Amino acid sequence: MLSPFSLDDAALVQRYAGDPQVARTTLHVPHPYLDGMAEKWIASHLLQYLEKRNVVFAIRSRAGDLYGAINLSLRMGDQWGELGYWIGLPFWNKGYCTDAARRVVRFGFEEMGLNKIYARYLEGNGGSGRVMEKIGMIREGIQRQHAMKDGVLRDVVEYGILRSEYTCGCSIRSGNHFRGAP
Ligand SMILES: CC(C)(COP(=O)(O)OP(=O)(O)OC[C@H]1O[C@@H](n2cnc3c(N)ncnc32)[C@H](O)[C@@H]1OP(=O)(O)O)[C@@H](O)C(=O)NCCC(=O)NCCS
Repeated sequence: MLSPFSLDDAALVQRYAGDPQVARTTLHVPHPYLDGMAEKWIASHLLQYLEKRNVVFAIRSRAGDLYGAINLSLRMGDQWGELGYWIGLPFWNKGYCTDAARRVVRFGFEEMGLNKIYARYLEGNGGSGRVMEKIGMIREGIQRQHAMKDGVLRDVVEYGILRSEYTCGCSIRSGNHFRGAP
């Protein structure tokens, strides 16, 4: 399930996003994740949404338990969105991120009217790259030594999907489960 975050989620956000395993492969999750950061982050979502800059969803079980977060950072003038996500360590490799990402791609094309959705990962983050493949994105290239992480300049791998590929289902490749528009 995807839904907005509420301030009641703050303690779990701090625990999951604050895990060094999550911080290790992300560029925008602060570390250490101090008291108050989660509340501030959650409180920022409404304005970002109203200004069409960023849409953030909580990824939850059907019962409402928090698994992680996914967002679409928007540049409406260029009709693109950049997907970002993290999942709490206890819930890795259960397909939750893929399910959520597939739904957010649909949201981006069908409800936000985007032309392109892309995502990037720090080289070495094979799990994130696999999610991008599974949702039908195509590898576009590498931004060499593009991001400073823990004092080291790292390569960034970029994947993307166009609206035309989404609607015709033509980004289907062996091994990914993308089905195009429902
Ligand atoms: C990346 C992340 C979001 C994936 O979430 P998830 O819910 O575990 O993802 P899914 O279960 O939907 O899919 C993971 C896929 O990656 C595969 N995988 C896991 N580790 C891998 C690795 N080191 N190399 C290659 N593939 C890997 C899994 O087997 C699975 O593929 P499969 O379904 O074909 O078996 C999660 O690991 C995470 O939060 N990592 C820390 C934060 C982060 O890196 N965010 C992304 C920043 S770009």
